[in-house]
Amino acid sequence: MEFKIESGDPTTLKTPCLILGVFEQAELSGPAAAIDKASGGYLSDVLRKGDMDGETGRTLMLYGAPGVGCERVLLVGCGKRKEFDRRGYRKALAAAVNLLVDTHIDAALCTLPALDPAGMTPYQAVREAVTACADTLYRYDRTKQEKKKPRPTLKQFAVRVAREGDAETARQAVRHGAVIAQGIDLAKDLSNLPGNLCTPGYLAERAIGLGRDYPALRVEVLEEKDMASLGMGALLSVSRGSRQPAKLILMEYRGGAEGAKPVVLVGKGLTFDAGGISLKPSSDMDEMKFDMCGGASVFGAMLCALELALPLNLIGVVPASENLPDGDANKPGDIVTSLSGQTIEILNTDAEGRLILCDALTYCERFDPEVVIDMATLTGAVMVGLGRRVSGYFTTDDELAKQISDAGEKSGDRTWRLPLWDEYQQELDSNFADIANIGSRWGGALTAACFLARFTKNYVWAHLDIAGVANKTGPKKGATGRPVPLLADFLLTKSGISLE
Ligand code: BES
Ligand code: MN
Ligand code: ZN
Repeated sequence: MEFKIESGDPTTLKTPCLILGVFEQAELSGPAAAIDKASGGYLSDVLRKGDMDGETGRTLMLYGAPGVGCERVLLVGCGKRKEFDRRGYRKALAAAVNLLVDTHIDAALCTLPALDPAGMTPYQAVREAVTACADTLYRYDRTKQEKKKPRPTLKQFAVRVAREGDAETARQAVRHGAVIAQGIDLAKDLSNLPGNLCTPGYLAERAIGLGRDYPALRVEVLEEKDMASLGMGALLSVSRGSRQPAKLILMEYRGGAEGAKPVVLVGKGLTFDAGGISLKPSSDMDEMKFDMCGGASVFGAMLCALELALPLNLIGVVPASENLPDGDANKPGDIVTSLSGQTIEILNTDAEGRLILCDALTYCERFDPEVVIDMATLTGAVMVGLGRRVSGYFTTDDELAKQISDAGEKSGDRTWRLPLWDEYQQELDSNFADIANIGSRWGGALTAACFLARFTKNYVWAHLDIAGVANKTGPKKGATGRPVPLLADFLLTKSGISLE
């Protein structure tokens, strides 16, 4: 797939398909008005007939518009001009790209970024056009028969900028968008693979493969024996109930100044979560293959940093394990000793994410990090509180909070801050160990974050609970690639090369 930038007069641009926005009340967008004029009122005629009312996401393909350079004109409804924002913009883009796929068109030129969706800069609008296009084109086919793999024929998606002066910004935006899309696709591919194929060992192999593809990446995989000699009793206790050996995947990219403290991304890589002895109910349990989406987002973000050769030091850490019931699995009441030395009473074996993460987080101390961010499909409770559109995040560092929130807003991968206050800590008191792995019935996302906080006292840290956003359920079941957009934006800003 090729993404590119195009400037110039929309009436003379040669393309198989020119995508034009139309607002409600037959209000033509700028480029659409230009085409209308050049074609002697062809578009206003169509609109007058009432075939296109401009409702968000409605589409109409037109052929043979006179006096213009394009073969087809695709009108896309963008809703009310005054209400046109990122949501309407995305919906319009997805509708347009879906129609391109249905009609087997191989190249198109999109003028929608010039419509200035509210709250988005030109840079963001162009970047979003690219990532939204790629998101709509994504197909999972790894485990389908060859002949049942219809691939979209769209090969080139050009984005038009209105002003010649915006071309350089737009070029950057297209480049960034294309790379972010690659990162998202990688995260989706890994996440959508089933648990029998995407095992901890498979994830480790993929990391090693990434290291082969990108010489700037150094990959190291800690085996169970390595973790045992380090003393990672919490992580290993989870994997003991599984026949697949756990892996601690370390990916190190040093693109920044020597000695500059690294950004460390930690992702939960639980390749299948049956709950262990605290077995989950069977309905929708297949979706627990998505319990490694945090880990997948680390892969995606690393890929973005590598492709853009970002000038920063970045370390990705993915603790990978299964959580299954077994004769040797954790039992409720078991007490294990974490790498930090703190003992943990495992009151619920289904609260396993924090067990694998806590040892990975303690391990991060050795990197002397500037900041550590972990991403995890950690609790069902975060979905109860926030629904499935935003991630919940936790940090006691207000500056980091702003950076995460801003990155989420700028990339449309939104977040909401939840409290990480000491008054919740007492819920984790245990009569038999230093800490219990679950709190009371209420505020489960908060007590989970409190648990992790006990292991992250020695550096600046944030935790993203992505259980609600990492995958979709129902007919559109599948990974979303989130929070790769947020992470990529965060890294671009950290590198000082993100444009407004
Ligand atoms: N992976 C789950 C969280 C989850 C649940 C993600 C549903 C996506 C959808 C996690 O390991 C888990 O089981 N959490 C428990 C914690 C509880 C036992 C304290 C939960 O949320 O029920
Ligand atoms: Mn669980
Ligand atoms: Zn889990």
